Amino acid sequence: MTQTPLQKVCLIGANGTLGSVILRALVDANSFDVSVLQRSNSSSSTTFDPSVTRLVADPDLAVDELTQVLKGQDAVIAAFPLGQGDQHLRLVEASFNAGVKRFIPADFGSCDASDAEPQKYLPLYRKKTAVREKCEALAAQDGTGFSWTTLVCGHFFDHGLRDGLLHFNFDTRTAQILDGGAIRASTSTLRRIAEATVRILERPVETRNRALYVQSFNPTQLEIVAALEKAMGEKWHIQHVDSKPYLEDAQKRLSSDDEKAVLIAIEDIVFVLGALDADWTKRDGFAMELLGLKDESLEDVVNEVVAAYRAETLSA
Ligand SMILES: NC(=O)c1ccc[n+]([C@@H]2O[C@H](COP(=O)([O-])OP(=O)(O)OC[C@H]3O[C@@H](n4cnc5c(N)ncnc54)[C@H](OP(=O)(O)O)[C@@H]3O)[C@@H](O)[C@H]2O)c1
Repeated sequence: MTQTPLQKVCLIGANGTLGSVILRALVDANSFDVSVLQRSNSSSSTTFDPSVTRLVADPDLAVDELTQVLKGQDAVIAAFPLGQGDQHLRLVEASFNAGVKRFIPADFGSCDASDAEPQKYLPLYRKKTAVREKCEALAAQDGTGFSWTTLVCGHFFDHGLRDGLLHFNFDTRTAQILDGGAIRASTSTLRRIAEATVRILERPVETRNRALYVQSFNPTQLEIVAALEKAMGEKWHIQHVDSKPYLEDAQKRLSSDDEKAVLIAIEDIVFVLGALDADWTKRDGFAMELLGLKDESLEDVVNEVVAAYRAETLSA
């Protein structure tokens, strides 16, 4: 099979945590014709690189309108939350109708959405799996040029280390450590995920219709604590947590009437799943070699995160 270049690429979620970094990587690659799709009621900044085309759609993301808007695109990348899973399903369908050749869904998971545990605990992962299944079904239709690639990256490392997802509290120098802390888990910096996304578009044949798994590294939680202690020159406190009762408690909190409590429960469950069952080096789809990627240095990345933390606390 020949490599048909995926040149015209449309990104949705370009102002987001991950989307903004993917957009930078697409523009920096200097080989794509990049557009971003925003809802007409978007309140985000619309200042993009002058090379980027801005497309607009009605906020309900209806299939017919999206189909028109996406005509001529080779690839579509969804990098926005799954709050309304139906929108993602419509985006897949519209991409298919519009003749898009590659769809990259909003997976980018801390864990593999299709695994039994994530499916059991959270609607988020059931929605992600429904989108993957829709992609599979459309790609299986005879004569279609449509294909998909889903990227599973583990916890966002640099972002998650600071925003609380990884349960490292910089202000109190406290880390919550699960089940002894010696379990390896793949985790990726935002730039690694963006780099992997670009490589997928550059290697359309090898990456078609597959779930691919990447990482920056796969440290244990205790190795992350050690890297932080080295970078900061001080001891961190460790709170040991047994994952089983912790998950049971978080699962109960999912049915709370308090929306904020539910969000915290979801994040707690994601934290555990991405720490205990996310060593992608053991998966068939581990794609570091396929995508021409090498592990980053945990120590270097932790030093960067600590430097950013210090700069922020000094300027506060
Ligand atoms: N592995 C991990 O640790 C981890 C952590 C977080 C997220 N994720 C995954 O990464 C992906 C991106 O998440 P993120 O946190 O980076 O997203 P985010 O920062 O919340 O993204 C917000 C962006 O998405 C756009 N957006 C939001 N809802 C939209 C909608 N219904 N239709 C169109 N655009 C919409 C917003 O655009 P406007 O404001 O311009 O409309 C904004 O640009 C998701 O698949 C998420 O599940 C993974």
